[in-house]
Amino acid sequence: MKFESRSVNNMPGHKSEKSGGKSRRAFLERFMGFVIFVLFAGSVNIVVRYLIPPAKAKKAKKLTIEVAQIQPGSSLVVEYRGEPVVLINHPEGIRALSAVCTHLGCIVKWNPDENALVCPCHGGRFDANGRVISGPPPEPLQKIEFEVDDDQIILA
Ligand code: FES
Repeated sequence: MKFESRSVNNMPGHKSEKSGGKSRRAFLERFMGFVIFVLFAGSVNIVVRYLIPPAKAKKAKKLTIEVAQIQPGSSLVVEYRGEPVVLINHPEGIRALSAVCTHLGCIVKWNPDENALVCPCHGGRFDANGRVISGPPPEPLQKIEFEVDDDQIILA
């Protein structure tokens, strides 16, 4: 009796290691290429979005707020042209100022007891007209132009 010796690779229905290895390698190369492409495209997207601000921030529409929404002596922060704006119903009249502190960009809050806008980050203080009272802010808050018409504040 004679036995035929066959290696596992020569068995019927079995792919050789060489061809299986090549197809696995080709698949992994394509897969890694795809992963690298996705990571690269994501990075490019982040850089482009950082360099080019969103269109809506540039094309701002009018913003109308009822004066009655702001109790006398209090304030309201709204988003206008992509930036926070603080509206103050001050005894001397309505004020509209950027709420972004000129020191390092924290958001200031109106404190009616102090009659001042106070920055929570480093204690910068501004008066109701945005002028620096104390603290590290180097410049006054930016004034925002507005009109009051029929008890409505219009930022345009
Ligand atoms: Fe406002 Fe520093 S960020 S005082």
